[in-house]
Amino acid sequence: MLTGKKILLGVTGSIAAYKAALLTRLLVKSGAEVKIIMTAAAKDFVSPLALSTLSKNAVLTDLANNDSWANHVMLGRWADLMLVAPLSCNSLAKMASGICDNLLMAVYLSATCKVVVAPAMDEDMWLHPATKNNLQQVASFGNFIIPVESGELASGLSGEGRMAEPESIVKWLDDYFLPDQPLKGKKAMVTAGPTYEQIDPVRFIGNHSSGRMGIAIANELRMRGAEVTLVLGPTTLELPELPVIIRVKTAAEMYAACISVFDKMDIAVMNAAVADYTPVEKQTEKIKKTGDNITIALTKTKDILKYLGEIKKNNQLLIGFALETNNEETYALKKLTEKNADMIVLNSLNDEGAGFGYDTNKITIFDKSGKKYCFDTKSKAAVARDIVNTIIQL
Ligand code: CTP
Repeated sequence: MLTGKKILLGVTGSIAAYKAALLTRLLVKSGAEVKIIMTAAAKDFVSPLALSTLSKNAVLTDLANNDSWANHVMLGRWADLMLVAPLSCNSLAKMASGICDNLLMAVYLSATCKVVVAPAMDEDMWLHPATKNNLQQVASFGNFIIPVESGELASGLSGEGRMAEPESIVKWLDDYFLPDQPLKGKKAMVTAGPTYEQIDPVRFIGNHSSGRMGIAIANELRMRGAEVTLVLGPTTLELPELPVIIRVKTAAEMYAACISVFDKMDIAVMNAAVADYTPVEKQTEKIKKTGDNITIALTKTKDILKYLGEIKKNNQLLIGFALETNNEETYALKKLTEKNADMIVLNSLNDEGAGFGYDTNKITIFDKSGKKYCFDTKSKAAVARDIVNTIIQL
């Protein structure tokens, strides 16, 4: 997973540039934020529009555009990693000798992050001593080379020089970013998303939770080595790549799913926005419009976090959430003690960029020893990292 990683993708003029579209799609799907720089020659092979659509960012091609200037220094500093794929024979030669005649080269020369290249060219060019020298030179600067593959080439010949397949490049990046895995051997459960309580066959009681925060936490726990079980309510988000995902709809189903796995868990992160009440009766036929008012009798659902707090063993860590609109700290601390959690993550709807519907969140964490941890507004992936770091500390 490349969740939260900032990747600067350089695309140069090679027939393999058509693969940059799939590569971009895979990087974004894997959670990376992708910005793309193309050389003029690359535009002959793949359209900037395709790449800007897939990366969800404007594609950069020129050092200056009318009255605006592409800040190559900041681009190089923005990225966690710069990937040049495909790297043509010509761009390789420029990288080896430090020629700065386009935006891509200016960014490369000023990049402070690691640079990785995936060369692509016909076999004869690939085997030329000049290419070999250039590659050695580029590697000696501390850049990484993703080896070319052997197979059918654009010339119709077969041999060495094909760019590594986009899947292999993403796998290479995955391995590169593999963090320390302090949670290796630990089992973690995460609840995420809303629950839907059926009123009749067409209506339900739900809430605005998307499941994005819980999925980010599940991904982060997995990246840190935990074996993750995700208990996920109704959501239209793309499912993450996790070994166990239990899909549920109602609070009762979420309760049953959590109870069935909690005993084996070392960590449980209860991020779901579970309905507190459910209709006493679920009508099997659609309720017809009749009088001016309607009353639906509701009954309390089981509080999953509270129940897990009652049955948890000393070696199990239980993390709850509190989404509040007022008296935030007081309510969060009340939940920490009343639900016997080890840690409560508070988000306040009063904070700009926090809560449902945002890609960002702002949290404060309280642990049961009385410690308070404050964080700034960040992307949900970065917030997930803060939460998991705090779990690891505990
Ligand atoms: N929670 C749960 N089961 C429920 C209700 C809540 O597991 N039936 C969990 C949530 O996943 C969250 C924590 O309890 O981790 C707090 O949820 P929240 O809705 O903020 O609090 P409530 O206890 O429901 O109290 P209130 O709605 O009055 O704030």
